[in-house]
Amino acid sequence: MKKIIALLLWFTCVMVACESGKEKSERRSDPSRYPNGGSELAWLMRDLTDSLEIMRASLLQGKTVNFDLPIDHLLSAVPTEEGKTDDPHYQEMAKEFQRYLKEQPIAITQEQKDYFDGLVNRCASCHQKLCPGPLQKINKLKLP
Ligand code: HEC
Repeated sequence: MKKIIALLLWFTCVMVACESGKEKSERRSDPSRYPNGGSELAWLMRDLTDSLEIMRASLLQGKTVNFDLPIDHLLSAVPTEEGKTDDPHYQEMAKEFQRYLKEQPIAITQEQKDYFDGLVNRCASCHQKLCPGPLQKINKLKLP
């Protein structure tokens, strides 16, 4: 019984720590869509998802977009599962993602659409290997 109480207390502390961290971090994601809090990496991923949804809508309207994504902390953000981002596959794919983002095409819509698909494929390939849960959501980002 004591163990259970200790465990409950521990969980409460962890939850509170996450909540206060959440207040501090700046983000565009709408918190009401994600009521369960989450790690620094989870919030970064949600920001990416939101940004890609906005880009996708613009590209579908034939507009050109700016592919700047908040990925400076992709390698260092704290994940939910300790050690997840230390995985060599993670490190490799995160670096390749950052490299790809530097190659963005500027003006032509069709080129931008192809580039966008490349972006979504890179989200998906890391997820296939390391974190398949959000794949369905990611695949929905693909252009028709
Ligand atoms: C280098 C690997 C990698 C790449 C690239 C990557 N992700 Fe992730 N993603 C992860 C990991 C690991 C998690 C688990 C984060 C956690 O729980 O702390 C995650 C979590 C998520 C989540 C769930 C967040 C939540 O609510 O808990 C979504 C959605 C997501 N990623 C979308 C994307 C999108 C969209 C892209 C492309 C722009 C992308 N990811 C690129 C590794 C990656």
